[in-house]
Amino acid sequence: MARKANVVEIPSLGTLDRTAGQLGRQLAQALRTAIRRGDIKPGELLPSTRILAKSLMIARGTVIEAFEQLIAEGFLESEGRAGTRVARSLVDEDPTRKRDEGRPAETRSWTPSARIDRFAQVAQHFVAAPQVPFSVSVPIGKAAPDDIWRRLGNRIRARGLGAPSGYGDPQGALELREAVADYVRKSRSVRCDASQIIITSGTQQGLYLACQVLLDVGDFAWVEDPAYRGITAILESAGHSNQMIRVPVDSEGLNVESGIERCPQARAAFVTSSHQYPLGMPMSMARRNALLAWARASNAWVVEDDYDGELRYAGHPFPSLQGLDPDCVIYLGTFSKILFPSLRLGYAIVPPYLVQAFCGARVLMDRHPANADQHVLAAFIAEGHLDRHIRRIRGVYADIHRQIIEAVNKLIPHNLAWLEPSDQGMHLVLWFQDGIDDKWVAMKASEAQVSVRAVSTMYAGANGRPGVILGLGGFSPEEIESATRRLAHVITLATQKTTE
Ligand SMILES: Cc1ncc(COP(=O)(O)O)c(C=O)c1O
Repeated sequence: MARKANVVEIPSLGTLDRTAGQLGRQLAQALRTAIRRGDIKPGELLPSTRILAKSLMIARGTVIEAFEQLIAEGFLESEGRAGTRVARSLVDEDPTRKRDEGRPAETRSWTPSARIDRFAQVAQHFVAAPQVPFSVSVPIGKAAPDDIWRRLGNRIRARGLGAPSGYGDPQGALELREAVADYVRKSRSVRCDASQIIITSGTQQGLYLACQVLLDVGDFAWVEDPAYRGITAILESAGHSNQMIRVPVDSEGLNVESGIERCPQARAAFVTSSHQYPLGMPMSMARRNALLAWARASNAWVVEDDYDGELRYAGHPFPSLQGLDPDCVIYLGTFSKILFPSLRLGYAIVPPYLVQAFCGARVLMDRHPANADQHVLAAFIAEGHLDRHIRRIRGVYADIHRQIIEAVNKLIPHNLAWLEPSDQGMHLVLWFQDGIDDKWVAMKASEAQVSVRAVSTMYAGANGRPGVILGLGGFSPEEIESATRRLAHVITLATQKTTE
């Protein structure tokens, strides 16, 4: 009787997930957690393996296996026929409990470092947008890749080069680099060969690698004002906040003269020269020449983020900056816009003497891109499907672009909001009358199933001109019209808020 009274109950053990299998491991983990949390204390007697097996409705052998494992780890001690207890030695020194594992973070008494705060804010900013208008690059409807993508994927993953293998080349699969070199030479006037290409998991990683490789501690960098949060956040998180020189953008793109006035000795300039993000204009030829002349004269690098340069709806796409001076430009391209963002494949094209350094930084980050999709994409490009896909989606996005312009002009009062003229890319900027809070509009719009991003936050100090970005995704004309109506309503509410 006495023995029975001392046997502990452990309710948390009842949460084993039968569908997940490996019940022995699950039970062992649940017991560890119960001990760490103090649900069961050193010296306390556990139920017998028979009783525990019965109450959990699992085989007795499974319980024995879990007990033996925890005895070996020092969490439990066996007393033979007298049963199994939580090890008494855990009273004196329990290193695991010192780490407070399993407790909610808010009960811990630590002061978060600035870095923890900064990264947590970045995570909040980059929460994936829902698949509603006006999220960018949502590959649904006519914008989705056709069946060939799926069929190629099945074939190459099962039997081809994308089948399981050992570690690959940090630079990326040669087949893909060759296909990319061919593609960018023709479509973006980039001058390179496959040996200069590093396959990345998108431009975001390309930007990260460029910062890691090019900037020493204390080096200054020019960044457009306004700019993509993905570059300003990298520089802040890498400790370059005070060396980030925001250079204003006007109708010709980055104002090079102003950059030189502010910081002639910068080590790098990050630009979106084909389609300024977010404002949308291409950099004029005069500015391109001035930027490259400054870079050459001061031994600086230009990092060209060409995130959607392929998609021009009137005339030909603007050629890359890299083609004008391959020695001082790091060119970053991506398949996020022309195929789909979840693919997570892009490329950095660098002068030959930077290749090894980019590979080294890449290895430290994640060794190399996932193998299978690289080969699927290589075949997709080499067999001509990408060219056909781009020709098709250029038409699709041109229609969506026009539909958004028509819907905005029809449904949103022009004195409250108006579109920045644009003939390319995957988004439009909708400017607001002064005083309208674009962050509030973005928040309220999202409650109404409309996804837009505030422009004011993309300026230095997060305090620029108010407006929102409307992304192009594969939405139908009806969805676009209905979302525009809801956005118009939110904008009207925002004006009432400002006059209150
Ligand atoms: C200006 C700009 N640069 C880079 C990126 C990152 O693209 P990726 O999906 O290739 O990482 C984006 C994504 O929207 C972007 O807008």
